[in-house]
Amino acid sequence: MAAVFLFSSCENAKDKKSDAAQVTTSESYLGKSITHNYDAMIDSIISQMTLQEKSGMLHGTSMFTTAGIERLGVPELKMADGPLGVREEISRYSWAPAGLDNDFATYYPAGAGLSATWNPQLAYTFGNSVGEECRAREKDVILSPAINIIRTPLGGRTYEYLTEDPFLNKKLAVPFIVGIQDNDVAACVKHYAANNQETNRDFVDVQIDERALREIYLPVFEAAVKEAKAYSIMGAYNKFRGEYLCENNHMLNEVLKGEWGFEGVVISDWAAVHTSVNSLNSGLDIEMGTPKPFNEFFLADPLIEAVKAGEISEAEIDKHVKRILQLMYTLKSMGGESRAKGSINTEAHFKDAYTIASESVVLLKNDKNLLPLNTSKISSIAVIGANATKKNALGGFGAGVKTKREVTPLEGLQNRLPASVKINYAEGYQERYAPKKEAKFGDVTQERAQTIDELDSKLVEEALMAAKNSDMTIIFAGSNRDYETEASDREDLELPFGQDTLIEKVLAVNPNTIVVMIAGAPFDINNIKEKSSTLVWSWFNGSEGGNALADVLLGHVNPSGKLPWTMPKSLMDSPAHATKSFPGDQTVSYVEGILVGYRWFDTKNVEPLYPFGYGLSYTSFDINNVRLDKKEPYSENEIIYVTVDVINTGNMDGKEVVQVYSSKKESKVERAAQELKGFEKVLVKKGQTATVTLALPVKELAYYDVGLKKWVVESGIYNFRIGNSSRDIKAEVSVQIN
Ligand code: BGC
Repeated sequence: MAAVFLFSSCENAKDKKSDAAQVTTSESYLGKSITHNYDAMIDSIISQMTLQEKSGMLHGTSMFTTAGIERLGVPELKMADGPLGVREEISRYSWAPAGLDNDFATYYPAGAGLSATWNPQLAYTFGNSVGEECRAREKDVILSPAINIIRTPLGGRTYEYLTEDPFLNKKLAVPFIVGIQDNDVAACVKHYAANNQETNRDFVDVQIDERALREIYLPVFEAAVKEAKAYSIMGAYNKFRGEYLCENNHMLNEVLKGEWGFEGVVISDWAAVHTSVNSLNSGLDIEMGTPKPFNEFFLADPLIEAVKAGEISEAEIDKHVKRILQLMYTLKSMGGESRAKGSINTEAHFKDAYTIASESVVLLKNDKNLLPLNTSKISSIAVIGANATKKNALGGFGAGVKTKREVTPLEGLQNRLPASVKINYAEGYQERYAPKKEAKFGDVTQERAQTIDELDSKLVEEALMAAKNSDMTIIFAGSNRDYETEASDREDLELPFGQDTLIEKVLAVNPNTIVVMIAGAPFDINNIKEKSSTLVWSWFNGSEGGNALADVLLGHVNPSGKLPWTMPKSLMDSPAHATKSFPGDQTVSYVEGILVGYRWFDTKNVEPLYPFGYGLSYTSFDINNVRLDKKEPYSENEIIYVTVDVINTGNMDGKEVVQVYSSKKESKVERAAQELKGFEKVLVKKGQTATVTLALPVKELAYYDVGLKKWVVESGIYNFRIGNSSRDIKAEVSVQIN
C-alpha cells in the first residue's frame, strides 16, 4: 500500500487510531506512474504494426475489449464495470448477460455509502478489494470510480457518486484509485467531466464558469491524475462549452494531458464518440460503445479511410497506440513481469464490504433513545416495508453485480437478534410501477418508471396489526436501484409507493417506531423527521449491508456515518433548482457558480433539513482546546497543523469525524461562507480524550484566479471552524497567511 503518513511514527494508522491518545493526519496516498522502461521496445512493436492492427487497438472490438495483435504478443485490453464491484460477464457482442456460472463477485457499497464513512482508509480498502476481484476475473481496467460532483439531489447517479464537496471527493477518490491500481489493474475514473445530470446527457452542452469548473468540478480529476496517477479516464457523454467531452481539445489535450501531465489512456463512455479525426486529434485514445458492427466505429474503418485520404497522419495514430502499450506494460499484461493474480468472493472481501457498510450508516435522530435496541427489554419487533427484503446488487439501468451474497435488512436482523426476540414481518407497501414512459438515450431506449403511490389496504392492515402486536417497530423505507438509476434523473424528492402515508399510520399505532431509510440520494423526509423520534439512513450497501445495519441497530457497532451531501427541506432550496438552472435543454448553465451544495445553503442562510457532514452517535463528543503549531503567520508552502481534543463524553466507545471548514470574510473574490479543508475520523473510547492533529496545507486555501489562470493563495486572516458537521461548529481559530 502506498500510503505516506505525515508526522506519524506508527506504521498502521488503524492501530494508531484505536489507542485514541494522539492521532495525526493526514495520510496521503500516492500512486505509481506509468512505466517508461519499455518505450524503445514499444516503438519497435509499433513499427511492425499494420494500420488495421493499430486501429483495432483504438476501438472496441467486443462490448468490453479492444483488439490484441497475436503475432506481436499484444493482448486484448479487457475492461469491466464498475463502481459496485466487478460486473457480471456481458456477452461479447451484445448487452445480454453471458450466462456464465463463474462470474459472481462481491457486491460493495455504492459510492454514497463509501463517502458517508468519511474514511479514506476504507476507500483504499474498497479499491484494493475490488482490484483483487478484477484480477481474479482477468480484467485490465475497471470502469470505476464514478466521481462526478452531486449538483442536484435528483441526479440518477447520485447513489453512485460520492459527494457535493470537492475536498471530500478527492480525499476518497485518490486512495480508492491507488487501491485498485496496486493490483496491476487500471482504474478508469469517470466521467470526465461535468457529467452532473442524466437528463439529456447524450447531448446537453454544459456551461460552467472557469472558477467553478476549477474549484468544484475538476479537483477530483486533477488529484486522480496528479496524486493517484490514474491509468485511465473516461470521457463523458455530454458537451462542455460546445464540444463533446470525447473530442474536446481543451479538456483532453490542454488540461488533462497538458496541464496535469496525464500519461494514461482516455477511454470514451459507451457510444460517446461522434467523429474520427477530430476525436483522436482532440486527445481521445480509445472508443468504446454499444452494439453496431465494430468496424463501423469512428476509430475503426472510418479512421483508416481518413488516414488514406490524408486527413490525419499515421504518426498521430502511433501516439495513441503508444499510450495503450505503455499502459499494458505498466499493468504487466505485457513484458513478462509477474502480475497480481487476485481473488474473488472471499470471506476477506465480504468483510471489507461489511466494514465499509458498518461505518456508513448515519444516525439522523434518536430522541427517545430507542437505539441501540435493548433486546433484554423487547420480546417482539415488527419489521415493516418492502425495503426489508429488497436486493440492490442488480436493478435499474447500468452496471450491477451478480453476487452470491446480499444480506437484506430482514436477514440481518434474523442473523443478529437473540432468539428471545420474535420478528413479525409485514410488507406494508409494495414497489409498483405504472406502464413505463419511453425515453431515448443515444442508442439505448430507457423507460422511466412511473410509480404507483396508492397503498394496498390489506398490506396496510397487516402492517398495522404487526406494529400493534409488537414491542417495537422498524420500518425499512426509501428507494432502490430501479427507482434511482443511471440514464434518468428523478422528477422530484417524493418518497415513492405511498410510504409516507404508511409510516404515518404505523407511527400512530406504535410510537416506538424506528424509521430506517435505504436510499442513495436525498428524499423529502420532512414529515417523517417531524413525526418519528428515531431516524436512520442507510445506503445500497453491498453484500453485507443487512448485517452491518443490524449491528448498528443493536449497538454492536456505534454509528459513525456522516452525510456526504446536504438534505434540503425543499428541492427549490438546492442551488441548481433555486437558480432554475436544472436540467436545461440543449444547454445547461450552472448559474450557482461555486456555490454548490452546502456552500450555497451556508452563504445564502438557507436552513437544510440535515446539513452536510451531519450524523449522530450513541455516545456524545465534545471538540475543544483548538491550537495551532505556531503563532507566526504561515506562508504558501507551509502546512498548518491544527490540533484539537476530542472528548468522548458518553458511555460507549465511538468514532467521530472532526471537520475543519475555512472561511474568509475579507476577500477580493466571491467566497462561500465556508469550505471543508480537512477532516479526520477518530476512535475515542468512552470517557477518554483523543488529541487529533490535522495537517492543512496552506495551498488548499487557494482560489482559482481566472485572469491569471492559476491558483492563488490570498493573504490575510482565515477563520478555521472545527466541528462534527457543517452546522455544528464547536471551536474556531484564526490563521494569518502572509
Ligand atoms: C455509463 C458508464 C459505464 C458504461 C459501460 C455507460 O452507460 O455511463 O458509467 O461504464 O456505460 O457499461
